Order: sequence, then structure tokens, then C-alpha cells
Amino acid sequence: MPSKWVCIILNLIVCVIASEEDEATRAYIKITEFDYEDTCLSTAEAQWEFINSPSNEKLSAWEEKLISYAAFKNTEKNIIANISRADINDESLQYKYDVAEKIGDALLDIEDFKTLVHFSGITELMRLSTIHKGILNGYTKQDVERILSRDSNIRNRSTVWTTWHQQLAPLVNNFSTILTFADKAAKENGAKDVSEYWELLSGYSDGYDKIRYKWNRIIDLHKKILKFAITIMTKKYNINMNDTIPAYLLGSLQGTDWIPISIDITPYPDLIYSIKKNLWKRKLLGKSLYKTASAMSAQILSQVPQAEFWEKSHFNQQCPSKLINFCKNAVLRVSTCFEPTISNYLSAHKNVGKIVFNQLSVEDTPILNTANRYSGLEESVSELFGILAASPAWLNYTHIIDDSSDNDQNLITSLMITALNTLPQIVYYISVDMWRINAVKKNITNSEDLISSWWEYREEYEGLDSNGMNLPTFLNDDYITSNKPYLPKIIGTMLAFQLYEYLMESTEVRYDSIVRKHMNIDFLKMIQQGSADDWMKVIDKYLEIDEISPDSLLSFFLPLEDFIDELDDDFQFKAITAKESELDKLEKEIIMEMNVPLTTTSTTTATPKHVNTKPKVPDAKSSNKQNDKRSDTNTVANSSKNLESKSSIYTPEKKPENHNPLQSVTTEVPFDKSLLDIQDTDKKPKISSNKAVWAVGAVLIATIIICIIAIFGRQRCRKVPKNRRYV
Ligand SMILES: *[C@@H]1O[C@H](CO)[C@@H](O)[C@H](O)[C@H]1NC(C)=O
Ligand SMILES: *[C@@H]1O[C@H](CO)[C@@H](O)[C@H](O)[C@H]1NC(C)=O
Ligand SMILES: *[C@@H]1O[C@H](CO)[C@@H](O)[C@H](O)[C@H]1NC(C)=O
Ligand SMILES: *[C@@H]1O[C@H](CO)[C@@H](O)[C@H](O)[C@H]1NC(C)=O
Ligand SMILES: *[C@@H]1O[C@H](CO)[C@@H](O)[C@H](O)[C@H]1NC(C)=O
Ligand SMILES: *[C@@H]1O[C@H](CO)[C@@H](O)[C@H](O)[C@H]1NC(C)=O
Ligand SMILES: *[C@@H]1O[C@H](CO)[C@@H](O)[C@H](O)[C@H]1NC(C)=O
Repeated sequence: MPSKWVCIILNLIVCVIASEEDEATRAYIKITEFDYEDTCLSTAEAQWEFINSPSNEKLSAWEEKLISYAAFKNTEKNIIANISRADINDESLQYKYDVAEKIGDALLDIEDFKTLVHFSGITELMRLSTIHKGILNGYTKQDVERILSRDSNIRNRSTVWTTWHQQLAPLVNNFSTILTFADKAAKENGAKDVSEYWELLSGYSDGYDKIRYKWNRIIDLHKKILKFAITIMTKKYNINMNDTIPAYLLGSLQGTDWIPISIDITPYPDLIYSIKKNLWKRKLLGKSLYKTASAMSAQILSQVPQAEFWEKSHFNQQCPSKLINFCKNAVLRVSTCFEPTISNYLSAHKNVGKIVFNQLSVEDTPILNTANRYSGLEESVSELFGILAASPAWLNYTHIIDDSSDNDQNLITSLMITALNTLPQIVYYISVDMWRINAVKKNITNSEDLISSWWEYREEYEGLDSNGMNLPTFLNDDYITSNKPYLPKIIGTMLAFQLYEYLMESTEVRYDSIVRKHMNIDFLKMIQQGSADDWMKVIDKYLEIDEISPDSLLSFFLPLEDFIDELDDDFQFKAITAKESELDKLEKEIIMEMNVPLTTTSTTTATPKHVNTKPKVPDAKSSNKQNDKRSDTNTVANSSKNLESKSSIYTPEKKPENHNPLQSVTTEVPFDKSLLDIQDTDKKPKISSNKAVWAVGAVLIATIIICIIAIFGRQRCRKVPKNRRYV
């Protein structure tokens, strides 16, 4: 017997020597990730509470969570710092190490961080609350945007636009301080200036220099769309515009998504009208709209949002929708309005893109990236879903365009929708970041100067003007008030067209089906790994895309460019106001109809599976809106469960949670296995508290078990292949 023990000890020593330093670090970072998930989860819960019933109390609770989250990140950073980066061999692990070390704004001085969080919280609360000012008493942001997209009286548009932005204007003095924090955070993260810092957070080095160059290539295309819009708007409203459009005319407060006015800016208003009408007729309200989008993700990525998403999301809140990541097990929820507008249709698809992106990557634990970085890759998958949603193939599949309509007209309409959605946004993102970088660099702290430079940038990049009202409309943007970079969205949008070209093997618009032959395994692997790793490297590895380029975007829009070039200058603008009121009537009817079944219990019993799928929506919103005349849209709040209507398109039923199409091709490695190889506890940093006990205990037990198996079974300790997780 003693000889056996000698053998065990000998084998133990062999195991220790054979183990790699990386495995200890890997296990250690894994534990850090679990702690991150817990802290992130409770922060997300506070945020979810806040956005669904915004109030000062909920805001304070959320702020506290954000502050303790930042404190937590700092603690973890200090612990991780005791591991030497030079000892890590694996590149992915080095990447995770860096993300845990350069934690972004959380590195700010605690007082500065609190000021930043408070400012972004207060502005968010104001944006989410009903406004109490003059003619807009009792209106929400969504109501205001509805007027901006519908009211044909441009004086009304101008008034509500101005009134809304004036409400936020007093906070502009605080904003100049907030902007200086971007510079401070850059220094803390070891970046030389704001651009380098934001490039770091986006995982795209030299990003802004490259963007300046790429922007030059998009200018012409954007100018063409802009000129087309100016021509039409000039005719429709009979006002003089030479080179720029007043921002209030663009259908929303920010003027960055021109979809709300797509019925104006199109050569085929009838087609846009029928799309709008069909979205209502097909009753793609709230949950049904997301079911449509999930049918798309089932086709492209064999993945649909998991059950919890459907149960816990709120489908009749405010728009623009908010997607919250709960950080654990890829749980995400959306809080959105129910109206099936084209904008919502697109954003539902984009949100589902993000949801499945996160679900696919759950095994690689992307939490450090989720917490400390802004992923260009996630944005690109999301935008890809938006592009596909507007393709004639998908619009036909979902019966949103009439089968009878002309293919060429469908093509132009589809391209126009994508153009109006992506181009104004991309130039807005560029203009916002360039403006902020310039303001920080030139130390512009005076509010007047900030505002006037803001409009100069918007004019230069976007071709918008303030119509003489120099208002700080940037306060209406949460990326700006929370110092978040737009760079990931800029590159994400361009990359989306490259992904489109990769998947479809061309940049041609799809008429027949959005699915090519069989599912693309490389694409899935790219998503799975790219979320937790340096995504630029991963897209290079799997898709051989080694640079973000606007080429795919430009060739995608080529048919539209040609079409606009060929339009003669006296293109006739067709006013279709009569149809707009028809649409209003239809909307009211559908809302009435959707409310009817609620009073009769028969439908509820007929479809019992719908009864408990949604928690009763708090009626906070309608209570303080007694005095407005939009009660027709509020009534639907009573019948939230009806928002999931039956539609005849194929909607995949709930699949097993976390169904992973990759499981067949990758070897799944459960977490505990990564602990099996840690032996060298002495070399490990002295780690505090129960974490240490946990790790050491697991290591010891695992080692002993391995060795026993090895000795009595195969007579030796076998090392698990090093890169088994990164097949
Ligand atoms: C990290 O190492 C430093 C000194 O090298 C030590 O003071 C500190 O306590 C260590 N931190 C932790 C969390 O182990
Ligand atoms: C704005 O600044 C003032 C004075 O510095 C401060 O009292 C106030 O709390 C700040 N408001 C916000 C929303 O940050
Ligand atoms: C402009 O707004 C006022 C008040 O909201 C409303 O009474 C009027 O009908 C609107 N004008 C038009 C042309 O819609
Ligand atoms: C635009 O038109 C106005 C008059 O409507 C004129 O004063 C102004 O100079 C023009 N701007 C440009 C850039 O042409
Ligand atoms: C920026 O300007 C403010 C006053 O406008 C000044 O107090 C501050 O020192 C300046 N900062 C830098 C870095 O020049
Ligand atoms: C549109 O879909 C229908 C079936 O839903 C199909 O018969 C038709 O061919 C499709 N149209 C095009 C242009 O693919
Ligand atoms: C909605 O519910 C409220 C109270 O629960 C009720 O007063 C109102 O009449 C309902 N509206 C409709 C259209 O059912």
C-alpha cells in the first residue's frame, strides 16, 4: 500500500509541473467573470425598474447600483493586476486580461463618476417623463415624435420640436463638465486622448482616422439622398432650402432616422403607404412584431429569443425601444411600444439580432466585453438584421408588401428604406463623435460655443440646420449625455453590409429568400467567439474580413444611386395626405378591435397559453396623460396580452433555451474542466476571501481525482488540449 501513495504523490508532482500558468489565470478570470455577472445583473435589474416606471426613487436606486458596480470593477482590476500579463501565453486570455484592467469610465475619480452617472440619469429621466411645458403639457417623447412625423402643419412641428428641446436646455451648463470627464477617463485608461480611448473601448485602433477617410467615400451617396430629400421637401412645404434641411422637418427629435418621413422621401409613396397599412392590417403589434423578427433569426442563425425574453419583456411601453442585457445566461428584455411603424419593424429585427448574438455567445462568457467595451460586432449583426428586414424577400415573406407590386419598384422602395434608416444615422454618429473629440481637444467649455459648434458639425456632416434656433439638441441623446462613443455603431453599420455580402455572396438585394443554401458555420463561430474576444481578429479568422470598408455599402446602394441620378429635376411630388388620414382611421380601428376580445372571455379561454405570458403592465403612463387627446393609443394598454395577435406568417415556437446550433461542431467544455488543470497555487496571486478557498479547494479535489483516475486507469495524467475552448 505505501508504494501506491508514493505513486500518487509522484504523479501529483508530475501534474503540477506539467500544468500551465495559463490555466491558473484562466480559472481565475473565469471566477472574476462570474462575479461580474452577478453585479451586472443587479445593476440591470435596477435599470429595468427605472425605464419601465421612471421616477426619482428608481433613478437613485439605479445610480447607486452603477456606482457600486464601478467600485466592484476597480476592486477586480486591482486583484487581477497581481497577475503578470507577461506570463499569459494565450492571446484570448491576454485580451480578457486587458479588458479587466482597462475598465473605461469606472476608472474615473469616484466624485467625477458620481457626477457623470447623476447627469446621465437625470437627463434620461427627463427624456422618459411626460413634459409639463406650455402646449406640450402631458406629452411624452413618443407623442412629440408622433406629431413630428404626422402633423402636416410645419409650424406645429417647429413648435413642438423647439418646446421639447428647450425643456432640456438648462442642463447644457453641466454638460461641459461631463465632456471633460471623457478626457480624464482617457488618461486613467492609459490612452493619450479621447479618440484613442474610444478606439480602445470599441476594439478598433486608429478608428477615427480611418473613419475620416471612409467618410469621404460615403459623402457623395449621402449628398444624393439629401438633395433628393431637399427637392421633395421644398415642393411639399413650399419653403426655401438651399443646402440644408431644418432638423425639425425630419420626423423625429434628433432627425437621425428618416424612416418616419419615408412616405415623403420616396419615388413610390404608394408602396410605402401599403407597407405602413399592411403592418397594421397584419396586426404586427408588440409581441407579434418581435415574433416576425424571431422568424428571421430562426432562418439565418437557427436561434430564437429564449422563453424568458417573451415572458418578461414589456411590449407596450415607450418608443424608442430599450433593450436591456441582464448579463447572465444571455437573458435580455425589451421595453418597447406596440405600434407597428416601419421604424419599429426595423428596430424589432435589430433588437432580435442583438438578442441572438448574445445567446449564441453565452458559452464564451462575453461578460467582460459586455461590461467594459462597446462591441462593433454586435452592432453589425444587429444592423444586418435591419438590412434583411427591409429586403423585398422578407417583406414578401411576411406579406408586408403586396405580391402584386412591381419588382423594380419594390427594389427601389426597399433600398430607400435601408438608405433612410442607415445613412442619416451613420453621418449623425460621425458628426457627434467628431464634434465631441474636437470640443475636448480645443477645450471648448463655454455652452454657447458648444452649441454653435454642434450645429456647425451637423451642418457639415449631416446637412441639417437648426433653423435659427440654437438649441443644445444633443442633450436628447443618451450616448452623448453618458459619454458613450458612437464609433462602434459607425463601424458596425459599415461592417453590416460586409456581412451581408459575405452571407449572400453578393451585394444584390434579395427577392426570393434571405437564406442561402445552408447555414454558414463559420459565421456562427465568428459570432460565438467574437463576442468575448478581440472581434477584429475573429472576423479576420473566420470571414477573412481584415478591414472595415464602405465598399459593400456603396455597391449595395448602387441601384438606388443610379435611379436617383436618372430622375429628372422636375420629379413630381405626389401629396398623399388623404391616404395618411385613411391610415389614421385604420390604426384606430385595429386598436379598437384589439381591445374587443378582452371583454369577452372566450378568446382568453381559447388561447390559454397567452394568459400568463405577460405581467400586467403598470398603467403609470396613461394616468398622467388624462388631458391629451391620444387616448385611442392608450386604450390598448389594457389589453396587453392581445398585442400578441395571430398572424399567418411562420413563427417558430419556443425552442429549448440556449439551443446552440454550434453544439454539433464544437466540443462543449463545461466550466469545471477549466479548473482541473490548476495546480500551481503558489505562483498564483494571493487572492482574497472565499474566492481563494473556492479555487484552491476545487483545484485540489480535481487534481486528486484526476490523478487517481490516471494512476488506476490510464497510468498517467493526461493534459486536456490547451486550446480546446477555442476550436
Ligand atoms: C497585490 O499585490 C500587492 C503587492 O504586490 C499587494 O499589496 C496587494 O495586497 C495584492 N492585492 C491582492 C488583492 O492580493
Ligand atoms: C448641474 O450642476 C449643478 C451645479 O454644479 C448641480 O448642483 C446639479 O446637481 C447638476 N445637475 C445635474 C443633473 O447633474
Ligand atoms: C396644430 O396644432 C394645434 C394644437 O395642437 C391643432 O389644433 C391644429 O389642428 C394643428 N394644426 C394642424 C394643421 O394640424
Ligand atoms: C441660402 O439662402 C439664403 C436666402 O434664402 C441666403 O441668404 C443664403 O446665403 C443661402 N446660403 C447658401 C449657402 O447658399
Ligand atoms: C480649459 O478651459 C478652462 C476655462 O475655459 C480652464 O479653466 C481650463 O484650465 C482649461 N483646460 C485646459 C486643459 O486647458
Ligand atoms: C412572394 O411570396 C409568395 C408566397 O408567399 C410567392 O409565391 C411569390 O413568388 C413571392 N414573390 C417573389 C417576388 O418572390
Ligand atoms: C382600461 O382600464 C381602465 C381601468 O382599468 C378603465 O377605466 C378603462 O375604461 C379601460 N379602457 C378600455 C378601453 O377598456
